[in-house]
Amino acid sequence: MNTVAASDATPEIHIRPCSEHTGAEISGIDLSKPISPSTLETITNALHQWGVVLFRLQTMTEAQHIAFSRHFGELEVHVVSQYSLPEYREILVLSNILKDGKHIGLADAGQRWHSDAGYRREPDRASVLYAREIPAPHANGETAGDTMFASARAAYDALDDSMKQRLEGLKVVYSYIRAYEAKMNEGSSSRKPLTDNQRAEVPDVVQPLIRTHPYTGKKIIYANPAHTYGITGMPESESRALLNALYAHITQPAFVYRHQWKVGDVLMWDNCVVQHNAVGDYKLPQRRLMHTTRIKGAAPF
Ligand code: OGA
Ligand code: MN
Repeated sequence: MNTVAASDATPEIHIRPCSEHTGAEISGIDLSKPISPSTLETITNALHQWGVVLFRLQTMTEAQHIAFSRHFGELEVHVVSQYSLPEYREILVLSNILKDGKHIGLADAGQRWHSDAGYRREPDRASVLYAREIPAPHANGETAGDTMFASARAAYDALDDSMKQRLEGLKVVYSYIRAYEAKMNEGSSSRKPLTDNQRAEVPDVVQPLIRTHPYTGKKIIYANPAHTYGITGMPESESRALLNALYAHITQPAFVYRHQWKVGDVLMWDNCVVQHNAVGDYKLPQRRLMHTTRIKGAAPF
């Protein structure tokens, strides 16, 4: 007779760092099932500590993806809502796939270092990205369509005291509209001009250059080359030089984890702790299909 293991025992949860500062894989959790309060606490602590958490081999329906994300707060419908799923507006489709000659999703999302929705007065707390189709590897066997993450918290910690003092109290301008139009001018094929309503939803905002994590109290460098347009009250050339130096500092290899996707991977990241950058090194017939949800956050301070 076969013996059956007790089925009500909670499987063990393991956390394994992906790199020295950034990213950790959490195993032993099925995201399609209800999540207990203690499991939620484990995930939240790992998210805040590592900036990115990875769950492998997941199978979630759209409703389960939304239900998991809702544990962390209310969800946001992305400003480019033409690529939200009609029946699940909280899910944004990122994809290079064409159907009847039309894009089914945003084809070039996130292909610069950025954090999500820093251009909103209340940026996204976290994002949950689920891999449904991953580009076939390159002919040399290397993976395609990776996503890189950099810890802007580890980068802050590594600054010397005089630099920390110089940055304290500075403010930066964020602009979604300028960033979007820059992409359009580069010939982005899945972007139509923003409507008046879309423009009204994302006016330029001013954010602190150094922000404090709302849960851990740690300081973080909060500026990125995709959406940040200068330090207020500082001459343009000085501002540009300082920001470029910070970007190079944040994205140095010591603070970066580069994720090689497998179908079924779910990555959740804390937009306060890390920045990310999607590597656009693939094209059709290499197909990429990702679903993402965005969890609303509070105004940075
Ligand atoms: C995002 C994003 C990166 C990727 O979902 O916010 O930037 O690799 N995506 O698709
Ligand atoms: Mn992004």
